[in-house]
Amino acid sequence: MSLLNNKIAVITGGAQGLGQALTERLAAEGCSVVAADMKEQQLRATAEDVAKKTGRKIIPVVCNVTLEADVEKLFAAATQNFGRVDVVVANAAILIAEPIAEADAEKWRAVMNVNLFGNFLTFKHACKIMKAQKSGSIIQINSKSGKKGSAANSAYAASKFGGIGLVQSVALEMAKFGVRCNAVCPGNLLESPLWTDEKNGLFVQYLRAGKVPGAQTIADVKKAYEGQVPLGRGCRYDDIGNLVVFLAGELSNYMTGQAINVTGGQEMR
Ligand SMILES: NC(=O)c1ccc[n+]([C@@H]2O[C@H](COP(=O)([O-])OP(=O)(O)OC[C@H]3O[C@@H](n4cnc5c(N)ncnc54)[C@H](O)[C@@H]3O)[C@@H](O)[C@H]2O)c1
Repeated sequence: MSLLNNKIAVITGGAQGLGQALTERLAAEGCSVVAADMKEQQLRATAEDVAKKTGRKIIPVVCNVTLEADVEKLFAAATQNFGRVDVVVANAAILIAEPIAEADAEKWRAVMNVNLFGNFLTFKHACKIMKAQKSGSIIQINSKSGKKGSAANSAYAASKFGGIGLVQSVALEMAKFGVRCNAVCPGNLLESPLWTDEKNGLFVQYLRAGKVPGAQTIADVKKAYEGQVPLGRGCRYDDIGNLVVFLAGELSNYMTGQAINVTGGQEMR
């Protein structure tokens, strides 16, 4: 059963990782998708691959979410091709983990710029369209770090806490126009490039930053993170896809302003 038949979705950070998986999931549920990212080659490859697998139209738009002209261009591509926007997934984000006393100020600012200001621009241009059409579902990919501080990771946690304030404010403002806005707070996607990248992945960053006491290797860091989850494993792309599909469609019509954990129960520990 396709739950989102003929809906038009816009997703940011769609080239790789969770964004790539969500692009495929939304298309598999019946959406045409406009996918944005700065990584042009990867984005085009993802769009081609998903279109081939699902038979849906996937339009890649090279876009830096911190630049308003780029975000305008992204939503213009959606309206020019499809005439409306039903679902927006604000997924693009970066993470630079550094202990606070040694943190590089420009890197800290860059994290806020992509994760919080980038979401503001995405929401602003989504709301312009959705307010006029009097419908829409905006979904922010947040994190469990949006509700609980994260040692040696203050920029990311601050940007994600701010994200929930943005979601609630937009939800309040847009409810009378039939537009809903919710956040999804994933646990650790331990198999994603964000963690596994050999140069800048979180396993390497957290090992360097001494975030896991006693950890000598990447395997030690991974084990420590799996051990924090009551359901005993890292979060998977489909765990998030299931909730995104629910929030994007009519089954969640009475939900707005929520920030929903998908963590295997990790936040209880
Ligand atoms: N991986 C995890 O463990 C995890 C856990 C919780 C929440 N999240 C959240 O999930 C989302 C996706 O994370 P991921 O693991 O797939 O990360 P990722 O780094 O693999 O993918 C992020 C994508 O966003 C793009 N991007 C970065 N800056 C951009 C910009 N300025 N403009 C446009 N695109 C930009 C990147 O090019 C990349 O394709 C993020 O919001 C992240 O905070 C991830």
